[in-house]
Amino acid sequence: MASRKHTLSELKSGSQRQLMSMDRRSMIQKSAFVSAALAIPGCFAEEVAGGLVRTASMVEGPFYPDKLPLDTDNDLLLINDSLRPGVGEITYLSGRVLGKNGQPIRNAFVEIWQCDAGGAYLHSGSSNKTKTDANFQGYGRYLTDSQGRYFFRTIKPVPYPGRTPHIHFGVSKNGQRVLTTQMLVKDHPMNKQDFLFKRITNQAARDSLLVGFSPIKGSKIGELEANFDVVLGRTVQELDDGTLGGGLAKPDRARS
Ligand SMILES: [Fe+2]
Repeated sequence: MASRKHTLSELKSGSQRQLMSMDRRSMIQKSAFVSAALAIPGCFAEEVAGGLVRTASMVEGPFYPDKLPLDTDNDLLLINDSLRPGVGEITYLSGRVLGKNGQPIRNAFVEIWQCDAGGAYLHSGSSNKTKTDANFQGYGRYLTDSQGRYFFRTIKPVPYPGRTPHIHFGVSKNGQRVLTTQMLVKDHPMNKQDFLFKRITNQAARDSLLVGFSPIKGSKIGELEANFDVVLGRTVQELDDGTLGGGLAKPDRARS
């Protein structure tokens, strides 16, 4: 159970279980709009056809879990078989891991971690520990599929003391971290003042980390969807045997 990888339909049914206790009718509608929201491939194809920009890196920060949760799957809203979800704005977060030419990177190990709705991380040194949401997983992982895709169900990030809302990403391949970064909420007013985001001065690099959160049409509980494609550096290419060729940049493992 711990590292289980939920399929899309399982993520969907997780939401359905919660909806069942709230509103039976909306559950049926939800099935349709979630399917539409997660009909991803066409969307990605268009994005890849445009000019690709390497995803900028950001520091790992101090709150990568110092003790991994019992459940590390890609549904951060539910821990194991709990029926009580974490608090927050439910977000279907998906994307692809791509090489510089837009080729999908399969079997990339994507980790995300973020604070809960009360601003607490899954870390013994996190502030706001007294407000910890015991139902929020705070960390998840996913191995990309043959099209380089990953999927998470999580919450829209909230401000954390001293930081604009963000979700941490770590992408590894063959046991080696190839990108460490953070995705931010596009147009969030706190982005301008964020001391870490300010270090990135190139506009295209900044844009590579800004992600829109859109309401899922028809959702009666205000669910959101967000897409974040990760474009790896120019030296990364996948060889026929599934390993990465070329020179890999040094992983950014800096901890502030
Ligand atoms: Fe953080």
